[in-house]
Amino acid sequence: MNLSFRAMREEDLEDVLKIESACFSDPWLKELFEMELQHDAYAAYQNGQLAGYICAMQVLDECSITNIAVQPELHRQGVAEYMFEQLYRIMDKREVRYYYLEVRSSNQAAVALYEKLGFDRVGIRKGYYHNPVEDALVMALNRSQN
Ligand SMILES: CC(C)(COP(=O)(O)OP(=O)(O)OC[C@H]1O[C@@H](n2cnc3c(N)ncnc32)[C@H](O)[C@@H]1OP(=O)(O)O)[C@@H](O)C(=O)NCCC(=O)NCCS
Repeated sequence: MNLSFRAMREEDLEDVLKIESACFSDPWLKELFEMELQHDAYAAYQNGQLAGYICAMQVLDECSITNIAVQPELHRQGVAEYMFEQLYRIMDKREVRYYYLEVRSSNQAAVALYEKLGFDRVGIRKGYYHNPVEDALVMALNRSQN
């Protein structure tokens, strides 16, 4: 694949929202993505088309992944792994070491992705998600151990 990666912009949001609603039963609204534009929100492009996005929030040496999704037709082609590699490249320069995220406990694709990347299951948040209500697995990665 011929992927590129850059900061998400206002002009990406229409396509971001299409992927978001194709991927999630409780999609984020536009306002939430507009707030993410102030933080670390990035878009991956393949031949001029939005392939996926990743949103993160950095505080000191910690980074929370708040959202990640890939265009359904491009699933299982390495786009999510590519976006993590690009995010690490940015965060390594800021000496970020610790990564956290929440994931629906039934989301096998995402849990498999995070486990492949070396994340461990460190907790459960009961009833964290809505539509449908479901527990979140909390997963963490310490990159200084890598
Ligand atoms: C989870 C998601 C982001 C993965 O994106 P992707 O680009 O398809 O993932 P990649 O191709 O980079 O996969 C990397 C690894 O993750 C794991 N993985 C990804 N999808 C998987 C699936 N459907 N089943 C099992 N393992 C899977 C595999 O280990 C894979 O490596 P491999 O293909 O060499 O076996 C994608 O499925 C998605 O957008 N899902 C909907 C949104 C979502 O659930 N986001 C996560 C919210 S916490």
